[in-house]
Amino acid sequence: MAYKIGVISGDGIGPEIVAEARKVLDTVAERYGHTFAYEEILMGGCSIDATGEPLTDEAIAAARASDAVLMGSIGGNTATSPWYRLPPDKRPEAGLLKLRKSLNLFANLRPAYLYEELKEACPLRADIIGDGFDMMIMRELTGGLYFGERRTEDVDGVLTATDTLTYNENEIRRIAKRGFDIARKRRKKVTSVDKANVLDSSRLWRKIVEEVAGDYPDVSYEHMLVDNCAMQLVKDPRQFDVILTENMFGDILSDEASMVTGSIGMLSSASLNDTKFGLYEPSGGSAPDIAGKGIANPIATILSAAMMLRYSFDLDAEADAIELAVRQVLRDGYRTVDIMPQEEEKRASVKQVGTGGMGDRICERIK
Ligand code: IPM
Ligand code: MG
Repeated sequence: MAYKIGVISGDGIGPEIVAEARKVLDTVAERYGHTFAYEEILMGGCSIDATGEPLTDEAIAAARASDAVLMGSIGGNTATSPWYRLPPDKRPEAGLLKLRKSLNLFANLRPAYLYEELKEACPLRADIIGDGFDMMIMRELTGGLYFGERRTEDVDGVLTATDTLTYNENEIRRIAKRGFDIARKRRKKVTSVDKANVLDSSRLWRKIVEEVAGDYPDVSYEHMLVDNCAMQLVKDPRQFDVILTENMFGDILSDEASMVTGSIGMLSSASLNDTKFGLYEPSGGSAPDIAGKGIANPIATILSAAMMLRYSFDLDAEADAIELAVRQVLRDGYRTVDIMPQEEEKRASVKQVGTGGMGDRICERIK
């Protein structure tokens, strides 16, 4: 089959990690007889430099015309980069938010999985890790605080900033359904996370999630307050299967979940709408401090490409092949610097590779 893939390499380590994911996709194409045509799309700081805007209408149109979009990362050092002296709606991140909203990418899936081989990198105690954990964060991505009205104004001589958190029942229902659908294909448990002891939006969230849960009698569910969830993630991460939550809580909890797996460099993500289209990107950021050094971990981007094959193209065998290759390469002892064991004795048993080396090893395994 032939597919058109939009590619947003972006800023920082973005171009390096995307190059490895493309290498892996090309290897898959060759082995399974597919054609992937790529189109570069500008977004983020590189788009600001080229066009003055973090995301142009042409870029949105190009993304829309693709079967799926693979993305690296965008943004720079917020303290030193000139991009952050621009007004907020002209900064790199504004491009990503605009793309999510324009393409209605309301469902953000962020798997957090602990590889047996990387238990060493996990900061939690062995008795907490047990036989590992495997959770999926289902984050609402086009509502809440991120897209509510905001302003900064002078109120009687006092500078005052306001952000608003709005959800309607339809927005909650559609993400809740996605959460329960995914749970059905996993261990059949949904933990819906909110702050219903304080927020109206959370009380509506709870009510609608309960309604949706009624249609999924085979899936168990519970409600959890977000502060408690933050605590439970480090206390007993094994209890979670699908974590279903709103935009801001999902942003925070997914970073936390990624760190308990050891490295944010391992975590993929998919942002989906009602169609087969999706935007696939690593959960991590642009890491400007290590950009261009060839040491960034490309695995999260490679696994995001696997998610693209699975969710947008229904190429399950091909996605399995990538995921298996990643596991084998870890088993073979290859590590990028972020997932190197801390203890000196353990370092001797693994082989450190750079960004390209890791991509090459994964391609070899797929072949
Ligand atoms: C993420 C990022 C973005 C977000 C930023 C870059 C706007 O942190 O994808 O989690 O907050 O959603
Ligand atoms: Mg985030």
